[in-house]
Amino acid sequence: MRMSVIGCGYLGAVHAAAMASLGHDVVGIDVDESRVASLAAGVAPFFEPGLADLLHDGLASGRLRFCSDMIEATGADVHFLAVGTPQSPEGPAADVSFVEAAIELLLPRLRPGDVVAGKSTVPVGTAARLGGRVTATGATLVWNPEFLREGWAVHDTLTPDRLVVGADATAAGERAVDVLRQVYRIAIDAGTPFLVTDLATAELVKGAANAFLATKISFINAIAEVAEAAGADVTLIAEALGHDTRIGRRYLGSGIGFGGGCLPKDIRAFAARAEELGRGDAVAFLHEVDAINLRRRDRAVRLVVDALDGLVFGRRIAVLGAAFKPFSDDVRDSPALEVAVRLRGLGADVVVTDPAAIENARAQHPQLGYAEARDEALRDADAVVVVTEWDEYRRHLTPQHAAGLVRGRIIVDGRNCLDAAAWRAAGWNYRGMGRR
Ligand code: UDX
Repeated sequence: MRMSVIGCGYLGAVHAAAMASLGHDVVGIDVDESRVASLAAGVAPFFEPGLADLLHDGLASGRLRFCSDMIEATGADVHFLAVGTPQSPEGPAADVSFVEAAIELLLPRLRPGDVVAGKSTVPVGTAARLGGRVTATGATLVWNPEFLREGWAVHDTLTPDRLVVGADATAAGERAVDVLRQVYRIAIDAGTPFLVTDLATAELVKGAANAFLATKISFINAIAEVAEAAGADVTLIAEALGHDTRIGRRYLGSGIGFGGGCLPKDIRAFAARAEELGRGDAVAFLHEVDAINLRRRDRAVRLVVDALDGLVFGRRIAVLGAAFKPFSDDVRDSPALEVAVRLRGLGADVVVTDPAAIENARAQHPQLGYAEARDEALRDADAVVVVTEWDEYRRHLTPQHAAGLVRGRIIVDGRNCLDAAAWRAAGWNYRGMGRR
């Protein structure tokens, strides 16, 4: 099928390349000309495992191209909207102006029978509000939320857990759903559940999924707070809970909490929209989820300060990690980077290292010290804090090796990803989060 993908960020670029790999004829469109130039040259503009290969193959096959002019969307059967919906500068709600602008620019390019498929995460009611203008052109608007995780985006796009398509219960809506069935034929034939809903339900599925995941993470971090006070170990609690098949172990990773371009802003937007709908009480717990999450960053800083007996000024602190999670170079609302910034604010000589995110981190926080190499960051450190659980720190750094580099054997494990016993046995003052 011929398709356009409007917005080529973490979501759109991967979607475009993945669709081309399925045999579709795809044009990716973005207003950012440097991003378009990079994608058109086969260079992924951000760190995403597997994307470069897909780009390379797609471009070589002639089925994938990128441009910055919406005119190129003309003639596509399906137009995916994959632009960002960041938090509004004025408050907790989502800023949907990029979605509105994309549709506005797309309208003159639409032909009767075209399908416009929204993938961006939007407040419930957005599709119904914008659908009329699309319908007036003879095209149909459906909502097809995207659940991909950064770092696993290629995998999640090609083999999703489920596909959800929201459409109006009209003949045009049904036809549009059939078009999306053709788009995702390979995944559907492989057994991927394909759920058809109304527009509002599809929008809410995405909001609910992110709210649930954020709640699960904050739940275990709330237990970590109690475990800290009681002298218990949250990692063992998570393990024990995880064996209960009703609960499951995933997203029970305790530590400095969630960040990134999605979960934090999405739970705020979800609560803000529920309040607009007069149902703020129903999701009031999301404010607590947010508050628990932010408290973990304070807690990590406090652990470092306490381990240094309150003497932070001028002390050298190695911060292992800057990305909001491993396998990503994304530092948007990164808890890792915030811990580094706070320690620097207390006068510490902070040296941040990360296998992928230093460039992005430096652009946001040029005041911090940076080291490309892990061992360079560790050298002469008075304390070490692990804030992103890259394998380079979690698996490949031994306490013995680190001990040969640092000045003080203090390690704060902000992701509860290290073997506490092994570090302690090597003479380290190891401190986890919610662990004895
Ligand atoms: C998330 C959702 O998973 C995805 O479905 C949605 O489309 C976008 O938002 P992403 O932001 O890429 O994806 O990352 P994810 O892997 O979900 O992690 C989010 C944050 O939670 C990270 O900061 C991560 O470190 C943290 N996290 C995750 C935990 O603190 N503990 C866990 O157990 C899992």
